[in-house]
Amino acid sequence: MKPRQIVPGVLAVGAQDFDRRLFDALIPLPDGTSYNAYLVQGRDKTALIDAVEPAMLHVLKDGLNDVPRVDYLISNHTEQDHSGGIPWLLERYPQAQLLASATAKPMLVDHLGLRAEQVRTVADGERLDLGGRTLRFITTPWVHWPETMSTYLEEDRILFSCDWFGSHVATTDLFVDGIECIRQEAKRYYAEIMMPFRKIVRQNLEKIKDLDISLIAPSHGPIHKDPGSIIQAYRDWTDDRPHNLVVLPWVTMHGSTALMVEHLIGALVGRGVAVAPFNMPVTDIGKLAMALVDAATIVAAGPTVHVGPHPALFNALILANALRPKARVAAVIGTYGWAGKMAETAKGALANLKVEFLDPVICKGLPRPADLEALDRLAEAIAGRHRELGILS
Ligand code: FEO
Repeated sequence: MKPRQIVPGVLAVGAQDFDRRLFDALIPLPDGTSYNAYLVQGRDKTALIDAVEPAMLHVLKDGLNDVPRVDYLISNHTEQDHSGGIPWLLERYPQAQLLASATAKPMLVDHLGLRAEQVRTVADGERLDLGGRTLRFITTPWVHWPETMSTYLEEDRILFSCDWFGSHVATTDLFVDGIECIRQEAKRYYAEIMMPFRKIVRQNLEKIKDLDISLIAPSHGPIHKDPGSIIQAYRDWTDDRPHNLVVLPWVTMHGSTALMVEHLIGALVGRGVAVAPFNMPVTDIGKLAMALVDAATIVAAGPTVHVGPHPALFNALILANALRPKARVAAVIGTYGWAGKMAETAKGALANLKVEFLDPVICKGLPRPADLEALDRLAEAIAGRHRELGILS
């Protein structure tokens, strides 16, 4: 694709990957993704911000066909979907200086096989004069790796944010106006990539709160014409206060757990508590991650398989444990045939979460009236915790 103008002298030269369906060999990409790169042309110097995923390098090469000179290569983030093209760029533009944060320098050496002397580090707040255009580097750690920085183009008030404020979506639209049309994609991206670093993301939001921003140009997805909307969405997602929502990953083999899940959903809804159930063998884990952004409570439901939780449920617990959502309450329900430690093992799999575990409800075979009454008590306990949190009246 040929370069596309964002404002005069600032061009988009990245790649749309319409067909990619999995990221990090883990994350579903129902709408593909993009690897954005931006060319900033000053009166005297030209800078390229971020590169692209190696598999799409041909698109960047094409976009730079008529760009004879690049003076600075700026690596906001060393993950290969944004840095993979750098070795080729250093060959194409041998005079270019590669600029990155101090934390990024050894990571560029480790991940790309560069020599340390090929990387010039820039400090937080440092400015780079391109001639009539000034880039300011702002360290924004953990969005999404520890070395990440953002680059702010002062004269045009554009924040090149790399991963944060991004969305996994491939589109020929250069801009998005407002957030509603990409809310799902942006939230999915935050959930899968940023949620574990929620508190640091909030600190980064504080760090940019006084910047005068006209456009946010992330390195995945379209450019935000309305920066306030996506920033406010990030404020909501990173806020400590959860929503009145139970996330319920579940698995059933012969229907007993399904009966328990159905009963618990009814008991919760009857008490005014919203429920997002996810039947794990057929679930898009991106949607589970998105629900975890808001949930106050997690209930894991499944049968016992060889003394522990069903592996498909275990996957959900491992994911939740890794994403460290803001949930405050958790419980385990399920079934067993003859013996097992399903509840204890499931609880142990959520060790990273700061949650109160309510009493589990585990029954032998089919749930009987006493088991259903126990589920009613669990629903009442959850509703009570939500009332204490001020999210259910
Ligand atoms: Fe899009 Fe963390 O890389």
